[in-house]
Amino acid sequence: MEGIKICQGEKPLKGEIKISGSKNASLPIMAATVLEPAEYILHDVPVLRDIKVMQAVLKALGGRIEQKGNSMLIDTRDLNSTEIPDYLMRKMRASILFMGPLLGRFGKVKVSQPGGCSIGPRPIDWHVKGLSQMGANFKESHGFLTGWGGSLKGKEIHLDFPSVGTTENLMLGAAKAQGNTVIRNAAREPEIVDLQNFLNSMGAEIIGAGTDMIKITGKKSLSGTEHTVIPDRIEAGTFLLAGAITKGEVKLLNVIPEHLESVIAKIREAGFEIKEEGETLTILSTGITPNSLDIKTYPYPGFPTDMQPQFMALLSLARGTSVITENIFENRMKHAEELKRLGANIRVEGKTAIIQGVQRLYGAFVESPPALRAGAALVLAGLAAEGETLVADIEHIERGYDNLVGKLKKLGAEVELIKISEEDKNA
Ligand code: UD1
Repeated sequence: MEGIKICQGEKPLKGEIKISGSKNASLPIMAATVLEPAEYILHDVPVLRDIKVMQAVLKALGGRIEQKGNSMLIDTRDLNSTEIPDYLMRKMRASILFMGPLLGRFGKVKVSQPGGCSIGPRPIDWHVKGLSQMGANFKESHGFLTGWGGSLKGKEIHLDFPSVGTTENLMLGAAKAQGNTVIRNAAREPEIVDLQNFLNSMGAEIIGAGTDMIKITGKKSLSGTEHTVIPDRIEAGTFLLAGAITKGEVKLLNVIPEHLESVIAKIREAGFEIKEEGETLTILSTGITPNSLDIKTYPYPGFPTDMQPQFMALLSLARGTSVITENIFENRMKHAEELKRLGANIRVEGKTAIIQGVQRLYGAFVESPPALRAGAALVLAGLAAEGETLVADIEHIERGYDNLVGKLKKLGAEVELIKISEEDKNA
């Protein structure tokens, strides 16, 4: 098993790094390539485990992939299967994003219950409901879900909640459906705008992404295309906090500051200075102890749930008492227990965490919960803790961060990837 060892914490990070392309934008875009038999070229795709799983799914469906650094060619001309293998579904929830495109192209799909981060029940009922409204039939048996029904039909759909994945799946299904689709109460995340841009470059006709109403005019056929993925706002937010928690000075290249407004607002409220210049962001934190904060997670443009664990790490060292309320996922507080091992003072009551700031964290052995942002929060805390910290079980961190250790090293952190044996864990 792999771990991240922070050999010496409390070292201010200094320097600049380039933020990778967005994981959560790349995944639905890769699923979109199934819609039309063609060749696609993607740039700025991050190199990380979830992308590899998505590639494996495309290959299992009969696709061909060539990767060169952060660019990727996807050829979906010879797809010959509509079944996502169970072992790949279990590895990543985003595999369900193939439902819309497979129904859109072949009129059938077979999936099993998806895996991914363990942060609550995460059902797929809204995906199924929306695609059913568009004319698909679904049958569930022995843990598998089979969908069929010929070509999908355009429909007015009102989502119960602005779910990111549901909005994407319905956009994907609607792009080749007969007639027009309107998605109301749609999610407004920047990754949805990127998906719209990608689909439109394939010849789709979609407007409204980024607002709560998306209109899709179904097209009989689309075409291959070339696209550069937007920068990863969550990776950028994580590195801003790495700068803040270590009282350092970190400059990020390749960011869209507008996508990080709610995060930047909270970092400034905590007392740090952030400079915005074009597509760069610099955090200046020398000598600053953060102010306590009150944070509530909401759908975009509200404060992102994917930054909640990392802020909990920062607020462990704040002046005074902070309160974090998690409104998106039911069980996304597991990092609190591990942060406490480093000396944090946190009480979790249901979906709320009360964090009493302490003056210092102390290096220790911690285990990353099976949730990738939780793991990132522990690495941040380790960077700020006195002495050595070992974060074990980092498989989930690697699902979502492209070269985390390499980038931290570039900023001067004393970190390394290590192998941990069972004996080490039990010692
Ligand atoms: C996406 C992101 C994830 C982020 C989340 C919220 C990707 C690959 N992942 O996940 O990083 O944390 O948005 O910003 O883009 N729900 C249902 N039924 C459904 C679908 C969702 O009850 O059919 C619930 C979920 O359990 C959750 C909430 O809705 O409590 C939000 O989920 P959703 O917005 O769909 O998140 P994901 O698309 O899974």
